[in-house]
Amino acid sequence: MSSSNMRREFLRLSAAVGSGLVLSSCGGNRSQPEQAKSEASSKADEDKKGGEVTATEDLMREHGVLRRALLVYTAAARKLRSNPSAVPPDALQKTAKLFRAFGEEYHEKELEEQFIFPAVKQAGGAAASLPDILVVQHNRGREITDYIINVTNGAKLGANAQELVRALESFVLMYEHHAAREDTIIFPAWKQTMTTKQLDEMGERFEDIEHEQFGEDGYEEAVKQIGDVEGSLGLSDISQFTAPPPPKT
Ligand SMILES: [Fe+2]
Ligand SMILES: [Fe+2]
Repeated sequence: MSSSNMRREFLRLSAAVGSGLVLSSCGGNRSQPEQAKSEASSKADEDKKGGEVTATEDLMREHGVLRRALLVYTAAARKLRSNPSAVPPDALQKTAKLFRAFGEEYHEKELEEQFIFPAVKQAGGAAASLPDILVVQHNRGREITDYIINVTNGAKLGANAQELVRALESFVLMYEHHAAREDTIIFPAWKQTMTTKQLDEMGERFEDIEHEQFGEDGYEEAVKQIGDVEGSLGLSDISQFTAPPPPKT
C-alpha cells in the first residue's frame, strides 16, 4: 500500500470508529463497539507507524532508487569494458530515463533545488557552502544522462562503448559522493531549519508533488522499474554480491 493509501486508510478507519461502523468477530468481556473501537485504533496506529514517510526519509529512499541505478551503471561499465555486445543498450536507456524522470526532474529539480538547497544556504553554517557545487553536479549529471540516452538509442553500442564506459564511471563516482554528502550533511541541516510540524507539512507537500508528477505510486513504480532492469542484467539475486571470505593470515 502506498503511503497516501495508508493515510487514507487511517482516515477511513478513524471515521469508521467515530460512527461505530467497525465491528469485530471476536468475543471477550468488552462490548462489541468498544472492542471494535480499540482494534480499529490499534490498526490505525499500526498503519500510521508503518505508513508515514517523513520528508527526509522520502529523500533518502529516493537516493536508494538512484543508487540502484548507479549499481546498474557500474555493472554495465564492467561488462562493456570486456565485451560491448554483452550489454543490451535498452537496459542502459531505461536506467538513464528513470534517472532523468525520477532523479533529475523530480528529486533534484522539484525538491532539492526548490526547497532544500535554498533553506540550507539561508541557514548558513558549514553545510551552506555545499548547495552551489551540488547544483553544478546536477547540471553535469543531466549532460551525461543526455549522452547516455543518445548513445543507447541504437541496437548496438559498437564504437561508442569505451567512451560510454568512461562517462558511466565518472557519473557513478560523482553521484556516490554527491548523495552521501546530501544524506549526511545537507538533509540533516535542512531538517534543523524546521519544527516537527513544518517537517510533517513538507512531507505532505513532497507527496503531493510526487503524485502530480507520477500519479499515485511514483516511488513504488520507480522501485519496480529499476528492479526490472536489474533482472534483465542478471543483477537481481543479491547473494551473488556476498563478499568472499578474507585471506587467511
Ligand atoms: Fe542532489
Ligand atoms: Fe539527492
